[in-house]
Amino acid sequence: MSSTTTASTQPVTIAGGYSFNGHLKVPGDKSIAHRALMIAALGQRPCEIWGLADGQDVHHTRQAVEALGAHVEDLTDNAVRVTGGLTGTSEPIFLGNSGTSIRLLAGMVAGFDFNTILDGDASIRRRPMARVIEPLTAMGGSVQGSGPEGSLAPLSIHGRRLRGVYHSLPVASAQVKSALLLAGLQAQGTTTVHETQLTRTHTEEMLVAAGAKLQRNDLTVTIWPGPLDPSDIHVPGDPSQAAFWLVGACMTPDSNLTVSNVYLGPARDGFLEVLQSMGADIDVDSSSGDIRARSSVLTATRVAADKLPRCIDEVPILAVAAAASEGVTVFEGVEELRVKESDRVAAIVDLLVGLGVDCQVLIQNGRQCLGVSGIGNGQKFKSAIVNARADHRIAMAAAIAGAVCVGSVTVEGFESTATSYPGFARDLTVVSGTAVVGADSNEAIS
Ligand code: S3P
Repeated sequence: MSSTTTASTQPVTIAGGYSFNGHLKVPGDKSIAHRALMIAALGQRPCEIWGLADGQDVHHTRQAVEALGAHVEDLTDNAVRVTGGLTGTSEPIFLGNSGTSIRLLAGMVAGFDFNTILDGDASIRRRPMARVIEPLTAMGGSVQGSGPEGSLAPLSIHGRRLRGVYHSLPVASAQVKSALLLAGLQAQGTTTVHETQLTRTHTEEMLVAAGAKLQRNDLTVTIWPGPLDPSDIHVPGDPSQAAFWLVGACMTPDSNLTVSNVYLGPARDGFLEVLQSMGADIDVDSSSGDIRARSSVLTATRVAADKLPRCIDEVPILAVAAAASEGVTVFEGVEELRVKESDRVAAIVDLLVGLGVDCQVLIQNGRQCLGVSGIGNGQKFKSAIVNARADHRIAMAAAIAGAVCVGSVTVEGFESTATSYPGFARDLTVVSGTAVVGADSNEAIS
């Protein structure tokens, strides 16, 4: 965690025709890591966090809580001890590419008695922030956005006394829900967030574990203000990272791969259901979090809009699985994917069309849907040069697609894998034996 990450920006090339075998441990879950650092920073006594991912996003949250006054000490490569206490900083806080960091921190600091400026890279400055600005303003907060409509980062937050509100989320977003729950810790009265579709529940669970008074009633969560007293936190493996390897194993011959210690909680396991509905040969050991995937005969599926929040980050790699399968897969209601680290709808279409796959945006029942016509099991994608659009999940999905490519896949912007998974190229070589040409300097260096 003490290293900064620099990366080569040269394209990498991966020659096709490999399988996925052996055992792998993926980095600690990114969503849990952000929350662990924030909750520890709000805590009353030192708290240890074990299993932190080494990606840039988590590193930015660490730097943010340090800048705000928490003390973070390295214990090992992926463990820290955090001593909480927020005093604020007059310096802008740079959060790189991390949407979770900027939105959750906005809620976390809004009720403190200091001012904060939150900013990020070019991608963050394009992403919608009104979704946190508006409800925090309704709580009495002062959050000024930038851009013509004041709805973009940087965010300028003047800390002030908040009051609890009832907020119904217009879009399914764990980030917005979490921002409001964190703000609710400092608010007068209760804060209630209602969601129409279940999104990841880490914030609720971790706040309860840290002693917050919080109640969930179906899709409605209410929090009472109060101090936190977190115990040590062990971060399990990231299911969103595991998904790349599991899809790779399912769509290639002679594959048998186990990813161990994966988080399997509610709202993060949707991708497993999608893969199972495609006929994937996957065994899940829910007590250990170990997931084994073997070569499979994959058939098309339909992913309903109300299922999408439960696999939102896995759509790029699920689209690759669909492209390798038999039949037409449809992902319904993909609008939110347009405002992720890149416009992932456009990025997926470019990726798959480049690989020779028929992939189109369809309008069905007034919703944007993504239709992918699979090439059929045992068939090959054509060679492609893919622009990852500085989006880690597009870069990794493209690299895995290389496994069923007749020639090779070249990924421009592969260095974006460092956002969440700096060791991705190394792990790809470990499980597949394939070389990732050009990736030598993509790992974190101090
Ligand atoms: C996240 C929530 C999701 C997800 C993101 C991480 C989180 O975003 O796409 O990668 O940690 O809360 P939204 O809540 O905006 O859908």
